[in-house]
Formats: sequence, C-alpha cells, structure tokens
Amino acid sequence: MNSNDRITPEGTKDYLFKECKLKRKAEKTLRNLFETQGYDEVMTPALEYYDVFSKGIGRISQDEMYTLTDNSGRLVTMRPDSTKPIARLYASRLKQAKLPLKLYYNQTVFRRNIRLSKFSDEITQIGVELLGAEGLAADIEILLLAAQSMKELFGDNFRIEIGHMGIISSLLEQPSTGDKDALRSALAAKNYPEIEAIAGAEKDGIFSNLFSLFGGTEVLARAKKLFDYDGAANALEELTQAANALEEKGFKNNIIIDLAVINEYDYYTGLVFKGYVAGQGKEVLSGGRYDTLYTDYDLDLSAIGFAVNIDEVVKVLGNEAATKQVKDTFTIALTKGRLEEQALRLLENSGLDCSSIRNKGRKLIINLDDKYEILFAKARDVVTYVEYGVADAGVVGKDVLLEMGRPVHEVLDLGFGKCRFSLAAQKGQDFYSGYKLKTVATKYPEFTKSFFNSRNMDVEIIKIEGSVELAPLLSLADGIVDLVETGSTLKENGLEIIEDICNISARLIVNSAALRLKKRTIEELIGRLSND
Ligand code: PRP
Repeated sequence: MNSNDRITPEGTKDYLFKECKLKRKAEKTLRNLFETQGYDEVMTPALEYYDVFSKGIGRISQDEMYTLTDNSGRLVTMRPDSTKPIARLYASRLKQAKLPLKLYYNQTVFRRNIRLSKFSDEITQIGVELLGAEGLAADIEILLLAAQSMKELFGDNFRIEIGHMGIISSLLEQPSTGDKDALRSALAAKNYPEIEAIAGAEKDGIFSNLFSLFGGTEVLARAKKLFDYDGAANALEELTQAANALEEKGFKNNIIIDLAVINEYDYYTGLVFKGYVAGQGKEVLSGGRYDTLYTDYDLDLSAIGFAVNIDEVVKVLGNEAATKQVKDTFTIALTKGRLEEQALRLLENSGLDCSSIRNKGRKLIINLDDKYEILFAKARDVVTYVEYGVADAGVVGKDVLLEMGRPVHEVLDLGFGKCRFSLAAQKGQDFYSGYKLKTVATKYPEFTKSFFNSRNMDVEIIKIEGSVELAPLLSLADGIVDLVETGSTLKENGLEIIEDICNISARLIVNSAALRLKKRTIEELIGRLSND
C-alpha cells in the first residue's frame, strides 16, 4: 500500500518563505488596524462540540465539517467558522461584558471542499465582531473598517460589494413568489435564467431585471422606483446611506451594489458585503449584520462583523500580475463539438465576422473584432477555465454545469443544444419495482447521485464514458441517466424513458470576478446573444 507520509491531505498545503512573509504581513496589517479601532483579540479552540454548528440559525452542513469523537465518544468538529464559536463564548463567559463589545480573531477554520476544486480546507481567517451595537451607525462603522482593510491590503485595486438582506427577502416573503427554496438557491448562485424561470413574470418584472440592478451606485436610483413597498424601501434606504458613507470616505470607485444578495449563511439579517480584488474569482472578505444568531442562546443581541480570508489574500499578493489593471480583451471559452457550430452561428448572427474562427485550423485561441478572445475547449474544461478566471465567460451545456456544480454564474440561456436528462430502462421493465438495489449507468455520476438522493433512494452508480445505452443491454445496469434529444438512440436499442428529470440547453456562464469587474462587456454580450 502507498504510504502518505510525504504528502499533505488534499485541501491543505505547506507554506514556505515568501508565502509565510506575505501571510504574516497581511495578518499584522489587519491586526494593527483592528487594534487601533479598539477591537480586542479572542481565541476559541480548534475543536468544538458538533452541536455548536449543527443546530439553530446558520447551521453548517455536516458534509462540510471535519468531525471526530472526543475521549468520551462525543462528537466534536474542527471549527468551520469563528462566528458561531464567538456566540458560544459570549453566551458562556462574556454575558456580563459592557456593550458594545468589539472583538477580533485570527485563527484557522476547517471546511471540506469539493475535491480538486483548488479551494483550501484549512483557511486562516482574521475578522471582527461588533456585539450589542444596533443601527446604521454600527453598520457604517464596520463597512468602513472592511473597506479600509481592503485598501490597506490591496491599495485602490479592489471592489466592495454591498447589499441588504431586507430587499430580496421581503420579495421572497410575498405569497405569490414561486418555489422559494429553489429561488433562494438560484439567487445565491446568481443564475439569472433560473431566477427568471422560477419567478420571472410574477413580480412586476423585478426578478427579470435583477441583472441590471447589479453594478455601480447608479443602480440605487433605478431600484427606488421598483422596490417601492414596505420592508424593501427601508432596506434600500439603509443601503443608500451606507453607500453614501463609503463615497464620502473616498471609496466611490470601489463600490458595487447587489440588490439581490442572498448569503450562504442564513444568519445574516441586514447589511451584507463582500470584498473582491482583480484576478481573484473568489471573494477575499465577507461579512454582514446578523441580529438573530444569538437567539440560539436565548439572547437578544445585535451583531455585525466580517472575516478576511488570509489564504486568498496571499494568493493575490503573491501573484503581482493579477493585481495590475484588468486586461482589456474579454476571453470567451466555447465548447468544442456539438455546441460549436450553433455558438458560432449565434455570434455571426449578432454581426460579428467569425471568418478568423472558421479558418482557425488547429489554432486554439483566436482574436475576434479586437475585443474578444475566443478559445475552444472540452465542455468540462470550459467550466474550469471560467471558474479559475483564465476565461471571463464560456458557452457550455447545462448538463455539464449540473454535473460539476462549480461556482460559476449562468447569465443567459442560449436556447440551443436543447435536450433533457432522463432516466431510461429496457422497455417494459418497471424500474422502481422490487427490493433489489438498482444499478444505474451514466456519464453524469454526481448529477445522478443527487437525483436519487432527492428521491431518498439508494442506487449503485456506474460511471460510463459513452454509449451508455449499452449498459442495460449487457445487463450491467438496470437503468441509465443520460441526455435524450430525439429519443432515437433509446428507441433503436429497445429502451424507454421512465422519467424525464430536467431540461438542458446551452448556457452563457461567467465567473464572479468578471461579473463584478467587466459587467458592461457581459451586458453587451448578453444583448448580442439574446434571442429576443
Ligand atoms: C448523446 C447521449 C445519447 C444520445 C441521445 O450521446 O448520451 O446517447 O446523444 O440523442 P438522441 O436522443 O437524439 O438519440 P452522444 O452522441 O453525445 O455520444 P456518446 O454517447 O458516445 O457520448
């Protein structure tokens, strides 16, 4: 058996020399800033009881936690965040402290990530928590501290994206809004075609306008006309004042407003914000107001805070090219093969001369109209290039997006490459009958697993690379989950559809950094490629 005594576990790494220096320097910069603003340091243990994170508001999924047992067999977990342990600490030892209480921490958190996703499982965070301070003044104090933190780390080359949970949540509370959970996930992923599909026609066009309600401070004026009802109007006013405060302190060019913000944690209740820097797809800072979290400890305590991901900061500071200005050309990755011709036709129909692409020979990167850089790749690589930020946008099938589940944003349903994911089996066979554990063959094992999980059904999944229809014919599987377009492959092989699972089509995807830093070009591209 191979020994693992010379490598580190996936999601972790050693830090050497320059990286250590950058890490310590970033920590020192922020520690000094927080201390001069009156914040005192606390440290919580790396191991906490599982109950701290598994219950109540903002509970964290067990899939994400490193969990083990202590000497008495009780479940403990490597802390996956610091906000919940600080709530536990306050509720146990700090209840008598004078409010407001200003705390900061500088410690590692541990989260399981998707394998080979380049995200670390061990993250050094430095963050602040302002406890017992209500209202806009406290929001602004923390927001300015977040902007100042970004400035001290990156100079002027950053964006701070601000939103307010009250805006979209008041819309979600409306009884007419469709499937709320599905809408929350679509909003969190900024999956615009999905948002429209779930709620598009319902709310005076607000949901279908969300993309245009994301950008510089100019979107606030536009939003005032749309969000003219209780709840949202107050939230919008607070957001406007917070943005004004940032502007007054010289951060005008750093502000992005996101009116449809939904955070990954359900504990945020008011203002929320994230810090982005050029060249880094993932946010480096994230925070907000969470006034209900302490009700888990029967306490009525308002709180606001943020955390900086020091490992992401080190990546940016270590890659000097990335912190230079964003390059002018916009790179689009197109999927080779089935979708290629239709994607090209769409570009041509939008008025672009694609002869350089049609005559590309074996060339993989082609300039188009001096504005776009087009590259060709296999579908999964398109998603990877977009996610890692080497391509700003991509054209890829929804099937691949569902399978990979990567954090890229779908901004347009391109309307071609239409087919569906279906469960199929040999004709006349009742797939769902009997007690036998069913075997399913597929090119899409992750999607298939989540489909059967959602049915609370155990199945054995076999990954096949192509011509999946063979598997039931050779008695390797009871059924298949695969793409069906005309249905002729199934028919000619004596198979039939048991159930259609969902519709598939080609999507335009972008990464988080492009969405924030190149929004105008994306809007222009959407205009070009939209069918309506
Ligand atoms: C896809 C899919 C089905 C077939 C469906 O395979 O996996 O096999 O097309 O199309 P139909 O409903 O129009 O018959 P693809 O041709 O991409 O080849 P592969 O199975 O070798 O991956």
